[in-house]
Amino acid sequence: MSEQINPVTFDAERVRADFPILNQEVNGHPLVYLDNAATTQKPRAVIQAIVDYYEHDNSNVHRGAHALADRATEKFEGARVKVANFINAPQARQVIWTRGTTEGINLVASSWGRSNLKAGDRILVSAMEHHSNIVPWQLIAEEKGASVEPVPVLEDGSIDLDAFAAMLDERVRLVACGHVSNALGTINPVQDVVRMAHAVGALALIDGAQAVGHWAVDVQALDCDFYVFSSHKLFGPTGLGVLYGKESLLDAMPPYQGGGEMIESVSFAGTTFNQLPYKFEAGTPDIAGVIGLGAAVDYLQSMDRAGAAVHEAALLSYAEERAKATPGIRIVGTAQQKTSVMSFLLEGAHPNDVGLLLDQQGVAVRTGNHCAQPIMEQFGISGTVRASFSFYNTRADVDRLFEALDKARQFLV
Ligand code: ALA
Repeated sequence: MSEQINPVTFDAERVRADFPILNQEVNGHPLVYLDNAATTQKPRAVIQAIVDYYEHDNSNVHRGAHALADRATEKFEGARVKVANFINAPQARQVIWTRGTTEGINLVASSWGRSNLKAGDRILVSAMEHHSNIVPWQLIAEEKGASVEPVPVLEDGSIDLDAFAAMLDERVRLVACGHVSNALGTINPVQDVVRMAHAVGALALIDGAQAVGHWAVDVQALDCDFYVFSSHKLFGPTGLGVLYGKESLLDAMPPYQGGGEMIESVSFAGTTFNQLPYKFEAGTPDIAGVIGLGAAVDYLQSMDRAGAAVHEAALLSYAEERAKATPGIRIVGTAQQKTSVMSFLLEGAHPNDVGLLLDQQGVAVRTGNHCAQPIMEQFGISGTVRASFSFYNTRADVDRLFEALDKARQFLV
């Protein structure tokens, strides 16, 4: 019998109990946290793993000659294996710890870009990218005389694949594309993007920051050359991220930063570099963060992720239905395939004012351009109000959002 996904089996109320931060009042109202695209909350298991590490195992990793260093190293490298399995990377050495998605992209732009790009080369990025998937490419392109060109986005916020196809030629060396748009929630057809990039000999980097928290990503199925994401959007700690890369590419790339750990031997006659993944991990890493991320991965793998995804999709449709039934709300980003992000405008009101009035009622959203100025410009707006849902949100949270919007409207419109 094939496995059935039954939305009723996913119990968001029970899952909420794992997230202590959700159980509080803000401005005299029970907190409704709808800013999950900015950062997700952390389950108790993650917080406890970090506390345990500091209470029992705190030590530097890899070279210590004592029990604590061995324990810390075992947990640290164990988390790398967990993350590799989580994204279906062929080997743990292809998982590089970074400070976050932004650093992962900067690493590839600096290391691969500096050693591979030349004048006249082209880099294509979708026009809906976060600034972190635009500016690093602009910096290296300027240095090398290459260009960074936007792939057009259609009115509904989906990528224009025909325009993309027409832009591709053998001068395109790399295509950088978000798996999910943080500003609009659009899920991009990244498997097609990767295949089309490869067809002209270009590499493909996928920014998975907004995807990994919603479903199981398989980097081998995507066949992407690089995949980057942040721990804090995956229910893990802040200040940590992952760069996955194909082994032959990572092996050929020069180090990104110099320091301890990334070397094999150092002499004034010449220094040789360590192997993967350490070649890209200069300095003492965020050991506690890595262990926390390992706990986040364990937590996610112990839950019904398919059920959680169905629950999130149901929340988005409910919120969008309510928005459509509310005069004066315009949803920005209406692509067929979306994660649980609802970006919107309240007619006659500035998004920042709406955000402030929602906060006063205990409802946390994000407002502004979401670090995606080019796509806001295309839509002729300076920003939106963004409600972004995770699996621990409920229909009652959506109802609270709309009650709060009704009250906000009385002040603003
Ligand atoms: N990039 C994060 C967001 O979309 C911070 O909110």
